[in-house]
Amino acid sequence: MKKVTCTAPVNIAVIKYWGKRDEALILPINSSLSVTLHQDQLKTTTSVAASREFTEDRMWLNGKEDDIRHPRLQSCLREIRRLARKRRGDAGDDGFSRILGYKVHICSVNNFPTAAGLASSAAGYACLVYTLAKLYGVEGELSEIARQGSGSACRSMYGGFVQWVMGEREDGKDSLAQQVEPETHWPELRILILVASAEKKHVGSTAGMQTSVQTSPLLKLRAQSVVPERMAEMIESIRQRDFEAFGQLTMKDSNQFHATCLDTYPPIFYLNHVSQRVISMVHRYNAHYGQTKVAYSFDAGPNAVIFTLEQTVNEFVEVVKRCFPPESNGDPFLKGLPVSPAPLPQKLLSAVECDPCPGGVRYTIVTQPGPGPVPLQDLNLDLLGSDGLPKQSA
Ligand code: DP6
Repeated sequence: MKKVTCTAPVNIAVIKYWGKRDEALILPINSSLSVTLHQDQLKTTTSVAASREFTEDRMWLNGKEDDIRHPRLQSCLREIRRLARKRRGDAGDDGFSRILGYKVHICSVNNFPTAAGLASSAAGYACLVYTLAKLYGVEGELSEIARQGSGSACRSMYGGFVQWVMGEREDGKDSLAQQVEPETHWPELRILILVASAEKKHVGSTAGMQTSVQTSPLLKLRAQSVVPERMAEMIESIRQRDFEAFGQLTMKDSNQFHATCLDTYPPIFYLNHVSQRVISMVHRYNAHYGQTKVAYSFDAGPNAVIFTLEQTVNEFVEVVKRCFPPESNGDPFLKGLPVSPAPLPQKLLSAVECDPCPGGVRYTIVTQPGPGPVPLQDLNLDLLGSDGLPKQSA
């Protein structure tokens, strides 16, 4: 049996992907750009084993066996095996070809609760593709395959600041992720995830963007003329480490994405009352300082992702606690990078004054930009036993 284990990161888009021009190949109607989050806080771990003894391909997700026949999963498996055959064929036989004929067992876990509503498909598919590539000895460009698992997954194939270039070709060969700057480029940048208490399950991204493409004139305008300009500005703001420009663009792009959701017919709502309070809290905080010190971004759910710089974290967390007094449920309110208590000057307090919403934010994860997928260092932590079955199930 040959076994490989790797981990992969979550990414948060600051220029959003919303809408496909090809559903099967997952080709987007606009380019997008994201920040890869550090795996010390959020990651997917995947073990893959190949053995002559296995009678079928099987998969376990977060402790439970899942349907391996899922079309997107099948696309990834098929494409990586195709690539392996091609590249191994070129390189001559060296043992990798033998395992290409074997069935695989795949076991994957997230270190963050799926119930938290954090997108797990990006890290999940990035990890799957990266781990399979290691198993079959495939090197080089893999984002084209990860994209076929979930669009946003292609950006999780790199660390730091990553763009997904939409491409022009019909076969998708030029619709790839590229690193804009590495994770070390902007060491002061911090990301806070405010996990909002959600009332109900929301419309999934895949279905949501399909309806938006069919019905929203605003989305068309966004893809054709807003995003191309914003991509260039965003890349420049990152290169210059210009937080004012970066933060403003991030908020405007999140807002426009949610505006296209409202422009969709019937409309889709991802923001809830907690998200709206976070938005006004951020704007009041920035107005107090007369500059953009914090910026929000929301994906297809009510959780807020806050971008800020290291020197602002302690104070802003105090503001969050004021507006959303933590409810003690045994769990810590703060997870991830350390945060110290900070005094809140009276003037700032009155500026951000809000009706407190106890428990509106369940907890906050503090993190920073991080690297792309990596092979697991500690081999004792792999997920499949010597029998090729999950070591533990939930
Ligand atoms: C709002 O990548 O989850 O998070 O390609 O259908 O799997 P599929 O969609 P997905 O969509 C992500 C949408 C978003 C914005 C973004 O990450 O760019």
